[in-house]
Amino acid sequence: MSRHRWMMGSRGARLWMLLWILNIVYSTNKVRASSLSALRVPPAQLSTPTFALKVLGEPKDDMRSFLLALAAHEQREANASAAHSAIIVFNYVEPKRKRAFLTALARLPERSVHRPYVLMLLGFNMDEECFVHASSMRFEKLCKTARELLYDRGDFLFANFDLGDTFLLDDNNPLRGVTIPPPGYRSLPPFDPDAPTRYFLTFRGIRNLGYYNSSRVREHLARAFAGWNDDRIQIWIDKSRFRLGARGAPPYDELFNSSFSLTAHGHGRWTFRFSEIVMACSIPVYLADGITLPFDQLVDWSKCSFLIPEREAENATQLLAHLPNDEHIVRAMRHCICEINAQYFATPEKRVDGFLKSILVETKRTRSR
Ligand SMILES: *[C@@H]1O[C@H](CO)[C@@H](O)[C@H](O)[C@H]1NC(C)=O
Ligand SMILES: *[C@@H]1O[C@H](CO)[C@@H](O)[C@H](O)[C@H]1NC(C)=O
Ligand SMILES: *[C@@H]1O[C@H](CO)[C@@H](O)[C@H](O)[C@H]1NC(C)=O
Ligand SMILES: *[C@@H]1O[C@H](CO)[C@@H](O)[C@H](O)[C@H]1NC(C)=O
Repeated sequence: MSRHRWMMGSRGARLWMLLWILNIVYSTNKVRASSLSALRVPPAQLSTPTFALKVLGEPKDDMRSFLLALAAHEQREANASAAHSAIIVFNYVEPKRKRAFLTALARLPERSVHRPYVLMLLGFNMDEECFVHASSMRFEKLCKTARELLYDRGDFLFANFDLGDTFLLDDNNPLRGVTIPPPGYRSLPPFDPDAPTRYFLTFRGIRNLGYYNSSRVREHLARAFAGWNDDRIQIWIDKSRFRLGARGAPPYDELFNSSFSLTAHGHGRWTFRFSEIVMACSIPVYLADGITLPFDQLVDWSKCSFLIPEREAENATQLLAHLPNDEHIVRAMRHCICEINAQYFATPEKRVDGFLKSILVETKRTRSR
């Protein structure tokens, strides 16, 4: 057989060649599935910027550990003009003080867009002014001022548990900045991602409607799963806070021994539950149109979580069709969530580290725009 003939191949050789290529493709996929990572950049390659910090108002209990870790951070500087960013935490803006608050924001002296303010605006909502009473002259100007300040000032970045939290009736225009992991979580030991789970999908929450009618997804979920008969799927939606001990429901913590955990738009889009899901190494399934996910600058959540349109909650079969059943895929995704937790969620210090690194990545994005 000449060398030439061998290269061209007989039918058998071509078949062998095809099998060999298929084998490579198959084993590469296997490797990929078991080493799925959502970290966009190896954390060691990311530096932590310097920052100055001002905390206004009394922090709620659940924010205290994060703010203490931030205040104690070695990159904190006393001199705001020398620091990379000026972080200002606004713990709560009383509704009747919105106008004064916006005036104060407008008076902040300009900083460079490369060394911005990071405004942590917790509990500041403008839905009434901008949507509910949008036709009222009284609110028109206030809404316009807010929009200009929040969207147009190049030296402002924002930090929140959902960057759209100020406008629950607008799912398409989150503020620019960094999403931080929800506070107030129950401390859960991570469930071993290689061990079998008790449940496939779980949810436990109160049947809250979205503020200003921004969502009815929990109501739809309750209806879609009513009478659903599968022990591996536990969807518990209580009518009121007082029934959280509903008879028959598994203990809250045990629900996270689940391949997937739902979290759904309640009063607002973000939930305390999201942090608990990640800390338990369960795969998050978010039903909250317009939600922004934590540390998006560092984490590619599409690798190991699901963001499903709220309308899909109207049909349980349709919702479940989004979730993979393959044990290898589930395990790889749970490992991927465990890694995010270990890197950026597990302690207040790690959350602060993720926050500061995200700020730096976000400012670099600004620079390259
Ligand atoms: C703060 O930093 C700026 C810029 O680096 C510098 O010009 C200024 O002197 C510093 N102020 C104080 C009080 O150290
Ligand atoms: C999770 O559930 C599995 C299956 O029921 C059980 O074997 C395992 O012990 C549970 N894990 C924990 C940490 O409770
Ligand atoms: C919310 O919607 C319901 C009907 O779906 C309506 O009766 C109610 O007035 C609305 N509430 C607000 C605050 O708009
Ligand atoms: C839910 O979706 C499935 C699959 O698309 C469909 O067969 C079923 O009729 C739907 N159920 C309802 C109640 O709409």
